[in-house]
Amino acid sequence: MDQINPTTPINPMPRHIAIIMDGNGRWAKKRGLPRKAGHKAGADALEKLAKGANELGLEHLTVYAFSTENWKRSDEEVAGIMDLLRRYLKEHIKAAKRRNFKVDMIGERSRLAPDIQEQIATLENLTKDRPGLNLHIALNYGGRDELLRAMRAMAREVAAGSLQPEQIDEEVVKRHLDTKDIPDPELMIRTSGEERISNFLLWQLAYAEFDFSPKLWPDYTIEDLKEAIYAYQYRDRRFGGRKE
Ligand code: IPE
Ligand code: IPE
Ligand code: MG
Repeated sequence: MDQINPTTPINPMPRHIAIIMDGNGRWAKKRGLPRKAGHKAGADALEKLAKGANELGLEHLTVYAFSTENWKRSDEEVAGIMDLLRRYLKEHIKAAKRRNFKVDMIGERSRLAPDIQEQIATLENLTKDRPGLNLHIALNYGGRDELLRAMRAMAREVAAGSLQPEQIDEEVVKRHLDTKDIPDPELMIRTSGEERISNFLLWQLAYAEFDFSPKLWPDYTIEDLKEAIYAYQYRDRRFGGRKE
């Protein structure tokens, strides 16, 4: 029998993958556990996935950990998530010497507790020159909030005379976003079967390919990510143009 040659992928490996890590609560509920146990399992899944993505040679991974809307949850749940975040950051700070990847944060920091802000700054400084994966954690992040902060910053520059309204183009807007140094994601993954954007990276995802996984986030593995990358590589991206 002739071997079937696999066709050549259309797209190279993405440089940047964004993930909405959803389904921690349902994962816990299915097991009769408190929601916090789901968030803990979610943090462990992120830990494994970041390591795997680093080994794959991915450049940027942005993960949605806490949205500007997630403050609406019960005080108990928010406190539980913040607790886990402290633990996660502490472990990363401890392990930073042994790891080759960078960690930083996007989102509005001032609403986070001062000790968490400090931990984030420490981790960012410790890892900023590492050659491996750039892990960007979205915390108190909302796409609309990010755009509003950018608009205000540009308005201030216009009022001060250092920016002309006519100069505002896509590049100038990008420079005012939290993701100013990061290329736009080519692929956005959301777990747990929900198919919506929930205020994530509204500007940056303009032409991203979407991949919706039915798996709950704590069950999502590097094998799932590899499959998503593989499927992405065969997507026909058109960017509004048309092929001859
Ligand atoms: C995602 O899991 C984590 C956060 C939003 C902090 P959820 O907590 O939203 O889990 P579900 O959607 O209720 O299952
Ligand atoms: C999006 O998930 C935010 C994060 C995963 C951090 P949500 O669970 O908060 O989104 P909705 O409420 O289902 O849209
Ligand atoms: Mg959810």
